[in-house]
Amino acid sequence: MTAPGAVGPLGTTAPGSGSRLPPRARLRSDAKTLSLDGTWRFRLHDRAPRDEVDGVPPFAAGTDRATGPDWSDLPVPSHWVLHGHGAPAYTNIRYPFPVDPPHVPDRNPTGDHVRTVDLSDWWPAGGRTLLRLDGAESLARVWVNGRTVGWSTGSRLTTEYDVTGLLRPGANTVAIRVHQWSQGSYLEDQDQWWLPGVFRSVTLEHRPDGGLDDVFVTADRDPVTGRGTLVVETVTTATQVTVRLPETGLEARLAPGAPARVDVGTVDAWSAEEPRLHDVVIATDAETVRLRVGFRRVEVVGDRLLVNGVPLVFHGVNRHETHPDRGRVFDEDTLRTDLSLMKQHGVQAIRTAHQPPHPRFLELADEYGFWVVLECDLETHGFWEVDWSGNPSDDPAWRDAYLDRVRRTVERDKNHPSVVVWSLGNESGTGRNLAAMADWIRRRDPSRPIHYEGDTEGAYTDLYSRMYPTIEEIDSVCGDLAMPVHEVGPAAGARQRAKPFVLCEYGHAMGNGPGSLADYQDRFERWSRLHGGFVWEWRDHGLRTTTDDGVAYFGYGGDFGEPVHDGVFVMDGLVLSDGTPSPALADLGRLWAPVRFTREGSSLTVHSQRAHADTADLAVVWELRVDGRVVDGGALDVPPVRPGRDVTVALPSDAVAPRRGREAHLTLRASLRQDTVWAPRGQVVAEVQTVVEVVPPTPSARPSGVLPSAAVFDEDGALRSWHGIDVAVLVPELWRAPTENDRASGQGSYETTSPELSSGRGDESVPPSADRWRERGLDRLTHRVTAVAREGGVLVQRLRSMPAGTGSGIDSEFRWSGDGDDLRLRWSAVPVGPWDCTWPRIGLHLDLPDDLGDAVEWWGTGPHESYPDAANGVVVGRFASAVDALGVRYARPQETGHRPDLRELRIGRLAIDALRGAGADLPGFQLARHTAQQWARAEHPHELPASDRLHLYLDAAQHGLGSRACGPDVLPRFALWPRQVALEVMFRAVS
Ligand code: GAL
Repeated sequence: MTAPGAVGPLGTTAPGSGSRLPPRARLRSDAKTLSLDGTWRFRLHDRAPRDEVDGVPPFAAGTDRATGPDWSDLPVPSHWVLHGHGAPAYTNIRYPFPVDPPHVPDRNPTGDHVRTVDLSDWWPAGGRTLLRLDGAESLARVWVNGRTVGWSTGSRLTTEYDVTGLLRPGANTVAIRVHQWSQGSYLEDQDQWWLPGVFRSVTLEHRPDGGLDDVFVTADRDPVTGRGTLVVETVTTATQVTVRLPETGLEARLAPGAPARVDVGTVDAWSAEEPRLHDVVIATDAETVRLRVGFRRVEVVGDRLLVNGVPLVFHGVNRHETHPDRGRVFDEDTLRTDLSLMKQHGVQAIRTAHQPPHPRFLELADEYGFWVVLECDLETHGFWEVDWSGNPSDDPAWRDAYLDRVRRTVERDKNHPSVVVWSLGNESGTGRNLAAMADWIRRRDPSRPIHYEGDTEGAYTDLYSRMYPTIEEIDSVCGDLAMPVHEVGPAAGARQRAKPFVLCEYGHAMGNGPGSLADYQDRFERWSRLHGGFVWEWRDHGLRTTTDDGVAYFGYGGDFGEPVHDGVFVMDGLVLSDGTPSPALADLGRLWAPVRFTREGSSLTVHSQRAHADTADLAVVWELRVDGRVVDGGALDVPPVRPGRDVTVALPSDAVAPRRGREAHLTLRASLRQDTVWAPRGQVVAEVQTVVEVVPPTPSARPSGVLPSAAVFDEDGALRSWHGIDVAVLVPELWRAPTENDRASGQGSYETTSPELSSGRGDESVPPSADRWRERGLDRLTHRVTAVAREGGVLVQRLRSMPAGTGSGIDSEFRWSGDGDDLRLRWSAVPVGPWDCTWPRIGLHLDLPDDLGDAVEWWGTGPHESYPDAANGVVVGRFASAVDALGVRYARPQETGHRPDLRELRIGRLAIDALRGAGADLPGFQLARHTAQQWARAEHPHELPASDRLHLYLDAAQHGLGSRACGPDVLPRFALWPRQVALEVMFRAVS
């Protein structure tokens, strides 16, 4: 009998057993295949079972028919924890098991998957048959007809076994035993759910004698001459290989084996902007494979990364494979929706964080047009918890495992034009095994540069990569500012500064945020060494689950009973768990638009932000809004703009004529002229709004009239109702429900004692803003009326608002007056006492009945929320929304729905106009069913109490968002420091 701990795969650092086939490209071939996806029999053990029971090996033919009470049906591919067997678990850095490599706990959920398949109709003649597993987490052991096939680790990597001698015509039984934990788990500590199972396809494939076992095609294009070359390398026992390009009629016969060059003549280049693919057919007498190649050249020249001779600046996102119901199980519709949404928002690059994606992803990336940084399935971040002691990255015992992973990564996906950079993995410290991976890639595929952020000294990678740097650090790497780079010595610092610089992660999109995307974009455009970056990350990883009483919600760490977890940190996407885009995506989309518009008087300059394609595919229109209403518009005749160039055209004089006393905005839009794979014709891809000059009206002094009788005040001078609408509360508010960035201390804060002191990297010792705000009682202001007076027709109420136990607060003055039938309020506030922290907001909170209605209309900024450092995605206009759609359903309730620069607001019978007055700016508004305090107490949206009130906040100012959940805090210029504010509004009478 073999004890479970003694079986090779659970107690060694080896990547798999010797019966596996060498890795090779995923090819579209005419070889016969048979999918084994479907319903399998399944049983779960809570520990790794003994290999033999009473001398009988597992799955011995005839002994285990997968029947009996332990067995049930399970779809393959799937994660068994998402099908009622055990539970998912989330950790970020920590391993959910002791750091005791290469061992894993005895309690090791192990899933047996068994399927019987009839091969009578499929039985291939001659050749060999292989069994392919595209992904099983984390250790998969395979038996066919009761005989051992092999085992392998490397969850997100393909494994193929030769099963020719084990299969027979008729019924065959395939058994796959998957152990959740294995030595491989030490190399798979990515910040994501631990989701065991056979989560990608299982396939039988026939390999004909003389077939093409592997094909490696490098499609190069000389950017100067435009001439293309195919370098074709094959693995086959055939004596001759034919290569055809049907489009050009080109046909070449090659000797198999060593790389052979085929001159293709002048060809169109492939780029993410113009993903031009060419069919290439490669054949032997026994097998034909079809590739879609893209001709392009990737080069590192000095500190520039070039594609097709021009700099490649990544407008990218990090993308994990995650689905609220399927986990990492592939779903093509979801992927297509994601890729389309990305392209619609100017995303042109994807880092496959932190593992190779499903193979179909790359075919679609080639077709839609994305620059892909393809990352190996490797992360050992949990060793950070033990000061990197014993980190596999520098331990020779793990070398084979590292090399195995990189081979399987590169070999499978080497033919895809979208893959422009190989990435060794993520957050695995540094060491010889990583250097060996890089060496291996250099020998195998010199056509693509190598990335790995953890190579801080730049010893074995081609790009200098950083995650979440501050703006100051970027300026230091690219400009004259001198700051230590990555805390490495001067020689390594100099080496890094001489390479192309890329931000493999920035802009942490957790909850509401990130802020300052525009500041990073500014640097991408300013510094030629800087090659853009990848926002962290595309999608929240929430898993759909239900409360005990059946309320559905998206679960995060801790929602599945995990003893060790990292909570909500797995919810940091530009789209929510169900794919709903968050306002951050619109914010980003505006920055990454293919064209920029700038207007000077009546001339409009259209600047192309593209690097490869012209703008012939885009139509440009103008639209004039006066007082928020569209009054005019039309098409503009803009000739195609070449990459990086400008074209200036004249705008119609009507569009820009100054308006007397009325606000006017001119909006310019670019949209697609034709359908594309990612959007229909008409899709808006760029939008910029400019303000049309206003000739101010002759000021007419408006005397304060008597207070209208529809306004009822109490003896303290507080408004109690307006036209019968009760106003339960109307008080100043400084608190917002902390955002994830407000709650976190990810990196240094600029929130030191005064903005003047805030420079450089920020102060890492400063606690999270939310803690500082709470300590100073910003969430619990108490109010005291200090004066109520009549000044002519004006009712004046003065109020002091301070939290218990502190000596700081604000003094407000409410000045109520009549204006015909309308009621005017001018509110102003000044800080009192010492203040040593920013404020999340300063404004008024009105507690109103919810029978005002469910709908709201406004003239102001929209359609989304926006904040001082995240305001690229909005324009001024007239908008309407349901109350419940005003805020974003972030995974954990937090500040949402703030819309600055309000002009008019209408909530059922209540109408409020904002006025610009002396010292008073237009306020922002937020309308919700809960208070900021209620939001701050809930961990999930469904925990918010039932409500029959509406809470309207009119804010004179809000604090920025920043990216401190993982990255820098709100930049000083977007911080709200205690200051004097004022706002002026008119409550109007409406029928
Ligand atoms: C990075 C890491 C990512 C993710 C991110 C924070 O350090 O590479 O995987 O954890 O931080 O969400």
